Amino acid sequence: MLTQTELKQNVAEAAVQFVLPLLAPDAILGVGTGSTADLFIDALAPHKSRFRGAASSSERSAARMQALGIQVFDLNDVQAMPVYVDGADEVDHGLNMIKGGGGALTREKIVASVARQFVCIVDESKLVQTLGHFPLPVEVIPMAREVVARRLAALGGTPVLRSGFVTDNGCQILDVSGLSITAPADMEALINNIPGVVSCGLFALAGADILLMSTQEGVRQLGRDTENTPS
Ligand code: 5RP
Repeated sequence: MLTQTELKQNVAEAAVQFVLPLLAPDAILGVGTGSTADLFIDALAPHKSRFRGAASSSERSAARMQALGIQVFDLNDVQAMPVYVDGADEVDHGLNMIKGGGGALTREKIVASVARQFVCIVDESKLVQTLGHFPLPVEVIPMAREVVARRLAALGGTPVLRSGFVTDNGCQILDVSGLSITAPADMEALINNIPGVVSCGLFALAGADILLMSTQEGVRQLGRDTENTPS
């Protein structure tokens, strides 16, 4: 029986094999944040001569890549990216995701928006029928925290301030539990429109294009067009 860390390791290695053919020598790829993204960075590093560098979704991933000799580019200097690779806290069968458990949701969404495709890498525990069991992270401007919390409560959620945590953007996170997210894109748009919200951890208006999911039987590849019912 593989542990969750071994499952993450397997999908990280599968992701490297998936992205390498997409990377021209001058390519910059987008890299996410979290324990699965860390393993992806580690597995990618031996191949760093095959591409130009990376744009990072967090200071944490940037530091890890730089330590391994992967050149990290400011996103302002990047016009295009073939692929963005990142983990998720939950993903549904339509490849909508909840992200932001590591607090990097806003930069993740920004970097992903530049990439031609989003490759989500998870172990099978992250696949759900309906998003919302994992508390939805919402990044807020600190002075708007309470008004945003009231608006999120009015949507049926229970927001809790992530205590002692400051994002790379100098903002705060409200983790919202109790939401059953049956219409993820609508919910994302609704939350994005609350004044004071920087971004929310729903990735549905632009979800993943490819899901690489590590199971006890191996890594499965699912696309938006794949029949994504559980096997
Ligand atoms: C960080 C994220 C991560 O992708 C998400 O939290 C999954 O993390 P892990 O790979 O450690 O399970 O969105 O903001």
